[in-house]
Amino acid sequence: MATRTVDAVVIGAGTGGYPCAIRLGQLKQKVIIVEKDEVGGVCLNWGCIPSKALISASHTYEKAKNGAVMGLLADNVRVDVPKMQDWKGGIVKKLTGGVRTLLKTNGAELIVGTARITGPNTVEITTREGQKETIDARAIVVATGSTTIELPSFKFDGKQIIGAKEAVSLREVPKRLLVIGGGVIGLELGTVYQKLGSELTVVEATPTLLPGTDPELTAVVERKLVKHGAKIFKNAKALGYEKNKDGSLAVKVDLGDGKHDTLVVDTVLVAVGMRPNSAGFGLEELGVKTDKGFVPSDLNGRTNIPSIYSVGDVSGQPMLAHKATKEGEVVAEIIAGHKAAKDWVSIPGVIFTDPEIATGGLSEAQAKERGIDVRVGKFPFTALGKAMAINETEGFIKVVADKKSHELLGVHIVGPEASNLISEGMLALEMHSFLEDLGLTVHPHPTLGEAMMEAAQHALGHAIHVMNKNQ
Ligand code: NAI
Repeated sequence: MATRTVDAVVIGAGTGGYPCAIRLGQLKQKVIIVEKDEVGGVCLNWGCIPSKALISASHTYEKAKNGAVMGLLADNVRVDVPKMQDWKGGIVKKLTGGVRTLLKTNGAELIVGTARITGPNTVEITTREGQKETIDARAIVVATGSTTIELPSFKFDGKQIIGAKEAVSLREVPKRLLVIGGGVIGLELGTVYQKLGSELTVVEATPTLLPGTDPELTAVVERKLVKHGAKIFKNAKALGYEKNKDGSLAVKVDLGDGKHDTLVVDTVLVAVGMRPNSAGFGLEELGVKTDKGFVPSDLNGRTNIPSIYSVGDVSGQPMLAHKATKEGEVVAEIIAGHKAAKDWVSIPGVIFTDPEIATGGLSEAQAKERGIDVRVGKFPFTALGKAMAINETEGFIKVVADKKSHELLGVHIVGPEASNLISEGMLALEMHSFLEDLGLTVHPHPTLGEAMMEAAQHALGHAIHVMNKNQ
């Protein structure tokens, strides 16, 4: 068995692992990155990117259909799902190809195969072709991501009972779609197929959709889903299903309070969360500490075994690509001997529903729970010229600040382009800005960003385009 010595082995080439390997290469570290599936991981292949392509296509379809209000009479707009899928596939191919090139040009060696950690500084790699190699590494980075949770009574069959991976690859629109789990994936993909023509039903176990998100924001999204015909059952659980003679599925649902119902649907999307991939590749044998399946790491990304690092979904919540990437970059710096730490103020959360939700920092409720006296400002998109001009006026921007010092504590957006607008809020939070900084910054007109400036001004009691309350 061949043996080589490198500075680092990165296990997993998703959005945590590949930026880590690229940065290690930039820092002149000898690095091998091992991936058993596709470069780019869940995000590029079956998650963030494919779903956003489908979200944008379905949004464009809906806008075209509803163009009459703007004087656009596109009466015969139709959906060609296979073509949409091929377009989406092309984007994925371009991005994953780009990652392969970036790894190569930065000097990171990609091995397609399975890694097993056999010691604090050794990794055994079995390539797809079955060749084995042992690598001695000064550092090992666990970037193995997470896997879709399966419900025992809804085992995936890849056709009618599906997870997110299959849901972004459907070649036809389900007539009746049941989504189990009203979380991020359930609502994002549920919205796609609702826009493309599915009758949508959502069964959510908790009392609110998108649990953990400010209910004031979620309400805007829920209202729109229902307005477009979605049935939403909260505090409800899907118990199991039987197949009808015509191929449809009869799904039994516990609606709480002793009530039950049977829903007849064609496809069930199970989206009840992800679990970290931490088992079966040597961590247990080495005594690497885990917590509910996660492999926690300190501010420098180190696990309890200092030569073994963890980044991304496997290291803990939130399971978000941008958090994984930043952690990967930090760990690369640490391995190369630089000073770095996971010391950001906040990780933004973005949900690509309609309208989008984006949040950073503390919510009003969280700030109050910490005993902070807050000052809140809010600006609705209904009062904004640009929002009217793009015919997307639902939602608002809300800023939360310390009442006395005016330091910004949180930014919460539901509305058009929330996913893009939040970056200004994140920069402001990271720089410990004050309401005055946001309010005094000249924002170009007419843009959606003006809502951020006006929300800050509203918190200070002098927004121009809405009535102000005395703060
Ligand atoms: P999630 O945790 O967002 O939502 C799961 C939902 O299922 C929760 O609302 C939960 O209460 C509900 N649930 C659990 N068991 C249930 C049951 N038996 N019956 C009915 N409801 C049940 O998980 P999701 O949507 O699967 O997403 C997985 C991960 O992927 C999340 O951590 C999320 O952050 C990440 N993700 C992020 C995206 C983004 O940033 N835009 C997009 C998609 C996924």
